[in-house]
Amino acid sequence: RTFTDPSIFAHRTVLVRSDLNVPMDGTTITDNGRVLASAGTIRALAEAGARVIVISHLGRPGGAPDPHFSLAPVAGELAAAIGRDVAFASDTVGEDAAAKVAALNDGDVLLLENLRFNPEETSKDEGERREFASRLAAFADDFVSDGFGVVHRKQASVYELAELLPHYAGSLVQAEVEVSDRLLNSPERPFTVVLGGSKVSDKLGVIDNLIARADNLLIGGGMVFTFLAALGHDIGSSLVEKDRIDDVKGYLERAEAGGARIMLPTDIVMAASFAPDADHWVRPVDALEDTPAGAAGLGLDIGPDTAAAYAEVILGSKTVFWNGPMGVFEFPAFAAGTKTVAAALTASADGAVADRLTVVGGGDSAAAVRALGFSDDEFGHISTGGGASLEYLEGKTLPGIEALA
Ligand code: 3PG
Repeated sequence: RTFTDPSIFAHRTVLVRSDLNVPMDGTTITDNGRVLASAGTIRALAEAGARVIVISHLGRPGGAPDPHFSLAPVAGELAAAIGRDVAFASDTVGEDAAAKVAALNDGDVLLLENLRFNPEETSKDEGERREFASRLAAFADDFVSDGFGVVHRKQASVYELAELLPHYAGSLVQAEVEVSDRLLNSPERPFTVVLGGSKVSDKLGVIDNLIARADNLLIGGGMVFTFLAALGHDIGSSLVEKDRIDDVKGYLERAEAGGARIMLPTDIVMAASFAPDADHWVRPVDALEDTPAGAAGLGLDIGPDTAAAYAEVILGSKTVFWNGPMGVFEFPAFAAGTKTVAAALTASADGAVADRLTVVGGGDSAAAVRALGFSDDEFGHISTGGGASLEYLEGKTLPGIEALA
């Protein structure tokens, strides 16, 4: 269930489940993308005269209060993003929260402390989750589910809460679902999927579902070496998931038999060790073992020929979905592949941003493009969901979406 007119919430108290799980360095937020993406719904409700209670998790504190996982620093960031004051309660369903909820006036916004300080939020026991959800529900008249990044979790504030209150999808969840559905069901072609990151095991479900839907699958990141190993290449000391080689062989066969074209790197930036200042050299994939004397040799980025070939395919595509960096972009010496792919997503063949859909999926990929100096508006859509966006594209039914039906 969705809503288009926030004034239906005027004078009502609304629980908004956002995903404000932002990366932190101490008490400093290092990427505020999820706060900015969550701001629209919260601002619209407050402006419409609702009394807004925002709830979220932060990290995985393990079911007990832990100052390292406090949402307190996020309250200020949220206030800046919505242009209104945000009160903060130092607990979730305790005395402070109850007092601050009771003091809310129309248009006020209150953020509660980390939901995961309560073990019931993530409990495997449905009864415990329901009990916690009912304590939250007692605060409010309505529930707006807007934390797309967490809709793949069957947790009290995501699933059970929707059973207890009139519930609606917020504008972020609506937008994320709309884009993901377009990728799955009606992509303009050519449709190219760029997958990176270190582990192929994280991407098996997506490859499995998209191999029959996409035109091109471009593979980068550490997962490349499991593909190269499957093809019989010597990959030196590069990362490999031996128990996934058979899966990968299966995908290569399906691609060959009429699925998406799977493109693999033709060259790799190899390094003497996993370090920012490691000696490094470029080798074609059939000569990765050709290392300088004494060096072990492990692949840390796709090579320049590969990056150029991937950029060309991306530039010629009408729809592009990208998840996972092409190399160890945190080390500048191994960031070139990720930068080239990101740049190709932001430009069309004639240099202007074209009428095409570019989607960056995943918390890490979004953080990567921002860390490399790209801005969000250079892409069609930057998803706030890491695991959630991947699971949606795997074709799974997600509990937090199912609960809103
Ligand atoms: C995420 O960062 O993917 C979401 O906030 C969900 O967090 P979780 O993986 O700890 O459930």
